Amino acid sequence: MAEIKQPSATNQPTTNGAHPPGSEPGVAAERSPDAPLTHRPRYAHIVGWGYHVPGKVITNHDLEQIVDTNDEWIRSRTGIAERHVAADPKETSVSLAVAAARKALEVADVPASKIDLIICSTTTPEHIFPATACLIQDALGANNAGAFDLSAACSGFVYGLAMARGHILAGDAEYVLVIGAETLSRIVDWTDRETCILFGDGAGAVLVAASEVPGGIMSVDLGSDGSGGNNLILPAGGSAMPTSLETVSSGMHYVKMDGKAVFRFATRVMASSTRKVLERAGYTTDEVDLVVPHQANIRIIQNSVLNQLKIPAEKVFVNLEKYGNTSTASIPIALCEAIEAGKLKPGYKVVFVGFGAGLTWAACAIDWRTPVEKPETGWWKNTRRQATYSAAAARSMWRRAVRWVYEVLPDPEAPGRDEGREKTPAEAPVKENTPERVRE
Ligand code: COA
Repeated sequence: MAEIKQPSATNQPTTNGAHPPGSEPGVAAERSPDAPLTHRPRYAHIVGWGYHVPGKVITNHDLEQIVDTNDEWIRSRTGIAERHVAADPKETSVSLAVAAARKALEVADVPASKIDLIICSTTTPEHIFPATACLIQDALGANNAGAFDLSAACSGFVYGLAMARGHILAGDAEYVLVIGAETLSRIVDWTDRETCILFGDGAGAVLVAASEVPGGIMSVDLGSDGSGGNNLILPAGGSAMPTSLETVSSGMHYVKMDGKAVFRFATRVMASSTRKVLERAGYTTDEVDLVVPHQANIRIIQNSVLNQLKIPAEKVFVNLEKYGNTSTASIPIALCEAIEAGKLKPGYKVVFVGFGAGLTWAACAIDWRTPVEKPETGWWKNTRRQATYSAAAARSMWRRAVRWVYEVLPDPEAPGRDEGREKTPAEAPVKENTPERVRE
């Protein structure tokens, strides 16, 4: 794993904004090598990142052929020019997530076997169950990882970071893989011009690692308001409205949205949630070097981050023009592109902030310490990595084969199997406690 840089001699706050016990301002936290693990300072740093989007691009002009819209309207009302769409049925939330996760592990130079937990945030899971995170675990060969899905819509990636940080600070995990993956094109109504122009597909992943180096994810803010649940909803397919011929024929399996209500909510919470995490981390808005906001609509970003928080545009990373709203994947994809564009350096104070269905919102403040140069990958490392992917696939096939063998073997419990055989005393039926038996 890349070495996380110690902060320069600065006043390093702990995760709740106070100085670590026993540390003097201006001195990086020191620990006694004999201190028990639970007493050592622990921080949660992002040490790897990666994203993947499908190859097929749908431009605003393409959409003009499908619905009554035009490029000028979409650009001026949203800022979006094109979006990537999983046109190949083999491209699913899992395949996008696995590609992004492999890149994140490569950047971190950490093998999948070291991951303790996989959190997949998605609104387009592969199935209602099993969890998409479990399918990712299998594909990565992350044999030592727990895995679960997280449902917080577009805020989900930051919710996932908060969970990862919690597990790390509690001492329960060393490495947590957080993924945001979406194939929204599969749940969008391509005849509804108010929604189909907005969304795109993609996945982004980060590896969060425990470290004693101060910094990393310093503060989080998670919020929800279920009274606005109907503002952005996929009505059918759950237990409230199970899928039926009627739900399908009335299009209840597609995204329904009150765009204006979501817009008003988003501009309010983006600013307030950012303020909260900055305050908790002990940062001012002037100190922020980079904001990576949820990429839903350029006007939401302008109204909240630029106008209300007065953070200048050059400190706010925007790439929604190319991808549209990829929901929970938007922040990690934007993070990767911000790094590629040289917008992020060790020592920077970074904010992620998002909002989405639920209604939910989430923000976190990060003291970024990880070097961002792409690591050298020699042929040997690449070959070894490819071998672990093949081994993961072979292991998965082997486990499926073993399960299949158990299925085709005769069931020892099956009725009729023991016909004619005399029962052993141990198998003899227990006599009931009838009054006669009690007297015996
Ligand atoms: N092309 C052309 N015209 C369109 C259109 C489209 N794709 N979609 C809507 N219109 C029309 C409307 O029918 C309306 O026409 P009318 O005035 O004749 O009734 C007009 O454009 C204005 O619609 P309105 O809904 O007021 O537009 P808006 O400025 O509010 O923008 C959204 C609509 C959806 C872009 C905007 O509300 C939004 O971004 N909301 C937040 C959505 C979001 O982020 N969702 C995801 C959350 S994670």
